[in-house]
Amino acid sequence: MDFETDYENRIVSTEYIPEDEGDNPLRPRTLEDYIGQEKVKENLSVYISAAKQRGEALDHVLLYGPPGLGKTTLSAIIANELGVNIRITSGPALERPGDLAALLTNLEPGDVLFIDEIHRLPRTVEEILYPAMEDFAIDIINGKGQGAASIHLPLPKFTLVGATTRAGQLTAPLRDRFGVIARLELYTPEELGRIVTRSAHILGITCDPDGAREIASRSRGTPRIANRLLKRVRDFAQVMNGDLIDQKTACQALDRMEIDELGLDMVDRRMLQAMIKHYNGGPVGLDTLAAVIGEEAVTIEDVYEPYLMQIGFLSRTPRGRVVLPAAYAHLGIPMQGQTTAPTQITFE
Ligand code: ADE
Repeated sequence: MDFETDYENRIVSTEYIPEDEGDNPLRPRTLEDYIGQEKVKENLSVYISAAKQRGEALDHVLLYGPPGLGKTTLSAIIANELGVNIRITSGPALERPGDLAALLTNLEPGDVLFIDEIHRLPRTVEEILYPAMEDFAIDIINGKGQGAASIHLPLPKFTLVGATTRAGQLTAPLRDRFGVIARLELYTPEELGRIVTRSAHILGITCDPDGAREIASRSRGTPRIANRLLKRVRDFAQVMNGDLIDQKTACQALDRMEIDELGLDMVDRRMLQAMIKHYNGGPVGLDTLAAVIGEEAVTIEDVYEPYLMQIGFLSRTPRGRVVLPAAYAHLGIPMQGQTTAPTQITFE
C-alpha cells in the first residue's frame, strides 16, 4: 500500500504550528469572547467569581479533550479573569523534579501553572506534584547518601491547570487532586462559523456568512483547523478574485486543498478506504490500522478518530474499529450485500 501523504504537514492537522503560537491575535482573552464550550464556560465563570470573592486561589482544573479545541487558550483566559500570572509548561518538558520545583517556587500567590500534556509527566515529577497540589509544599532532597537532607519548602497557594488529550491515562492520585474536571467537546459548525467570522474580522479579511459557513463545515469541529483554513482560503481568494471570501471561493480553495465537504482529507479517506478494501470495513485492531496508514496509534486515537466518530463514520468496538454505513455512502463505495444509507451528520 502506498501512503505517500505528508502527514506532518496536513492542513487539517491539529498539531501546533508556529503561527498558532505566541501572541496570537486570534486567541480570545476573556470568557465573553470565547465562543462555544458553553457548559464549561458557565461553570468556570462561577468558580472564578467565587474564588475571587473569597480572595482565594481557584481550585485545580483539569481540561481534557481532543487537540486543537482551546485548552491552552482557556487556561490563559482563566488566569486573565482571575487577574493573575500564568506560567506555561508541559509534561514532557518537566524531565526532573528540580524542573518542576524551580517553577513552583517562583509562583506568586494565586498564580496559574499550566501543564499541557500532563499525562506525559515523568513519575518522579508527578510525585512531587501531589503534595504541591494538596498541601502547597514540596520536600526536596538535598545531597546524596548519608549526608542527604530533606528540605520542606512551603509554596504560595496556586492553581494548577492541567490539559490532556487522554484523561484515561492519568493516574488516579493525580486525577483525584483536581477539584474541577472539564471535558471540551468538538465545536458545532455554527460555533465554528462564528469563530471564523470573528477571526476574519481581526485579520481584516472580508468573509461573508456563506464563506464562513463553508470553512466551518470543513474544519472537523476544531477552531485551530478553522483558523488555519481561513488563512489559506484567504491566499486563494487574494489570487483568484481580489480578497472576498464567499462560498464559491471557499469551496474552490478547499477543493484544491483536497479537503472535502465534511473536512476529510486524503489521510482520512485513505484510512477508511483501506479498512473497507482490506478488512471489509472491520473490525480492525488499532495497531493494525496504525501499521496500515503509517501513523502512531495514539495519533489515530487522538486526532483522526474523534471527528470520524462524531460524524458517524467510525465506531470503536471491543474487537476493533468498524467503518459505518455513512462512510461508505460518503466515499461512494457500496456496502457488501446492502444498499447504502445517505450520509447523515448530527451534532449533539
Ligand atoms: N479562536 C480559537 N478558538 C476560539 C474560541 N473558542 N472562541 C473564539 N475565538 C477562538
